[in-house]
Parts: sequence; structure tokens; C-alpha cells
Amino acid sequence: MTDQTLITAQILAFDRTPFDGDPAQSARLHEALVIEGGHIAALGPVSEVRAAYPQARHRDMGAHLITAGFVDAHVHYPQTAMIASWGKRLIDWLNTYTFPEEMRFADPAYAAEIAGRYLDLTLAHGTTTTASYCTIHPASVTAFFEAAQARGLRAVAGKTCMDRNAPDGLRDTAQSAYDDSRALLDRWHGVDRLSYAITPRFSPTSSPEQLGALGHLWAEHPDCLMQTHLSEQTDEIEWVQALYPEARDYLDTYEAHGLLGARGLYGHAIHLTPRERDRLREVGAALIHCPTSNTFIGSGLFDMAARVAEGQRVGLATDTGGGSSFSMLRTMAAAYEIGQLTGTALHPAQLLWLGTAGSAQALHMGDLIGTIAPGMEADLVALDLASTPAIAQRAGRAEDIWEALFPTIMMGDDRAVAQVWVAGRAV
Ligand code: GUN
Ligand code: ZN
Repeated sequence: MTDQTLITAQILAFDRTPFDGDPAQSARLHEALVIEGGHIAALGPVSEVRAAYPQARHRDMGAHLITAGFVDAHVHYPQTAMIASWGKRLIDWLNTYTFPEEMRFADPAYAAEIAGRYLDLTLAHGTTTTASYCTIHPASVTAFFEAAQARGLRAVAGKTCMDRNAPDGLRDTAQSAYDDSRALLDRWHGVDRLSYAITPRFSPTSSPEQLGALGHLWAEHPDCLMQTHLSEQTDEIEWVQALYPEARDYLDTYEAHGLLGARGLYGHAIHLTPRERDRLREVGAALIHCPTSNTFIGSGLFDMAARVAEGQRVGLATDTGGGSSFSMLRTMAAAYEIGQLTGTALHPAQLLWLGTAGSAQALHMGDLIGTIAPGMEADLVALDLASTPAIAQRAGRAEDIWEALFPTIMMGDDRAVAQVWVAGRAV
């Protein structure tokens, strides 16, 4: 039996970033692709691809649009069950809703239940890779990696480290954060499609000693990612100044402790000083834009177009459950809306690229996932561009593929996700 599958559809593949040159010309439509051994083996006109793979099983997806699976570069899977909690801004939101929920992950069975629920929800929304914070409990990391492994997913996760300004039961220490993170990293990093990310939650919940210990761990394992939060709300920035009086700015609290680097993922990064912007760009770090979170928690407007124009690496993310959605389509829509408020109408190509190749590049996985090309892992989504009557009637008037896609970006949800493939396997 061959494991080759030939899929026909409207297959949208980027040739380059849509942030250089005409966005509409950054991708092309192809008629067919072949999946073999979990990877994309071929892409092109159906006659050519069929001739080269005569044994392949054929799956016709009709007029559906196939794109790379969505890559969500910043999430908190433990916040699944408290998403859409009303009425608070960041610090009160953490204390009122987030920390009590994260406390429940002391129970490994609860962690396993939520990890499975989270990954099933995100898969249903077309997301094939997530970079997740866990809780301070090592078992919360194990639960997430086991759930991702069982589904064959490429995934990133790390133990959230906090040794102050968090309630009893939700604090570790500088030493235990180092020891537990190292043990998890040794156990999981590079196993199957899993990667470990060193994860200090943010400077207010870590002592300088803890940040330093995690900086050492990163220096010992420079191939790991490091994920944290940066300059999300102005109150938070003032708090960081009070907690770290020596620091030049918020970024310096990380920089001074070995936590600034190219493999660093800095969530939000809305209210940056010129020095912070320069340093982040110089080292090639990634800023992770979380638009539904920024509006939901009232954080502010991230000027994506300005950051990309400066040469910053930017990824896109839901930030579930500060973000109000599991959907990267909804997240692209929110990025578009914030773009409108900051003076740039992001093109549909730019939105789709950010939620696939852009986020993959932010995670330093752009050579594995996020793009449809021979050799890439076959994490794919088929989108129904007419999934509801409202979307169908607008898409029916479209004159090109971008105009056909944009209503699904703006109004689509999991009903638009017709099929997902994880490493070539239809789920
Ligand atoms: N800053 C520190 N922790 C969090 C969190 O869980 N969510 C968000 N949105 N911001 C944070
Ligand atoms: Zn977050």
C-alpha cells in the first residue's frame, strides 16, 4: 500500500513574505499536492503531479482553499476553561481569574483533561502548532506534551516560572524553577515533534535570582526557545520599574539576566521605548502580536506595520485565554482591525502569512512548517470559503483569491475549517 495522497483543491502557497513588494503577488495558487511520509512531496499542476505519482490515492477538495496549518505563537492552554472572563484589566484579571484556575493544575488529571480539550478545540479551528505556557506544575507540561504527542502535533511548551507576586500554591523558587525546567527540557525537547521553551511568566512574578537562573539554563541550552511577556499594559510597566529600580526599561530586566536573544518570544510588546525596539531588532528576537487579547484586556494597539517596517520579526497569536478566541481566523481579523486603528490596512496575504509562515519563523520553525512547499511537513488546513450564507454571498462576488478569502478571515470560525492534516494524516 502506498502512503502517497494526491490532494486537489485551490492550494495557496507563499513564494515570499507579503511584507516586501505587492502582497497580492506573494503567493500562487496550485492545483495539486502530494503528501508522502508526513511531508509534502510535490506541488503543481494536477496533470504533472498525477503523472509523477500515479499510485497516489486521490482526495478532491473541490474549491476549498488549502493553506498551511495555522501556527499560534503564544497561548496559555491552562486558561482554556476561563476564557471570556469579564471585566478586568491585566493585573486584576490575573489575580481574579487566572491564578485560581492555574492552581487547579496541581491535579495532573485536570491538566490532562484540559490539555486534550485545548488541542481538540484548536485543531477544530485549523491550528496545527501552538507555543503554550503551562503552569508552575511540572505535570502540566507533561500533560500538554503527552496530549500533543498523541495527536502527532508539532508543539512548543514550557513550565511557567513564578517565585513572587503569585498566591500560595502557585510559586516555585529560583532553584526549583531551574531544576524542574531542566528536567522537563531533558525529557521532552526534541522528542518527536515537541520543543521545550524556557518560560519565565514575566518580570513581576520572578525575582532577579529566578530570571538569572533561567538565563543560565538558556545559555546551557541555546537551541531552546524562551517565551515571556513584555510591555503589555502601562500599569504593568510601572510595576516593573518599581520592582527593578536598576533596570533601564522593561526589556532590560530580561537582558540583564541572560533572557534576551534571537530565540526569545516576547508576547505583546506594545508599549516599547526606542531602545527596547532597537535591541529586540538587533538580536532578531520575535514580538508576538496577540490582537484579541490586547483589545479584550484593554492593553493597547500594537503597531504591526511599523514594527515589520523596522525589520522586527513578528508572530501572531491568540493568547488564549487573555485572548477571547481559539481561532487564528478571528485573530487575523482582530489584527486587521487594530491595523485600521493604527493606520495600515493589512492585506489578506499579510494576515494569512502572519498566522502561518510568520509565526513559524518567529518560532524558528520556518523550515519545517508554515509554508506549502516540497519537503515541508504536511500540516495543512482546507478552508471552505463559503462556510456560512453571509460569507458565501460576499465571497461569491470576489474577483481574486484574496477577495474570496477575506470574508472568511473576517467572519469565519471553525465551520470554515473543512479538513485538517497533521503530518499528512487527515484528522
Ligand atoms: N502577563 C503575565 N501573565 C499573563 C497571562 O497569563 N496573560 C496575559 N495576557 N498577560 C500576562
Ligand atoms: Zn500570554
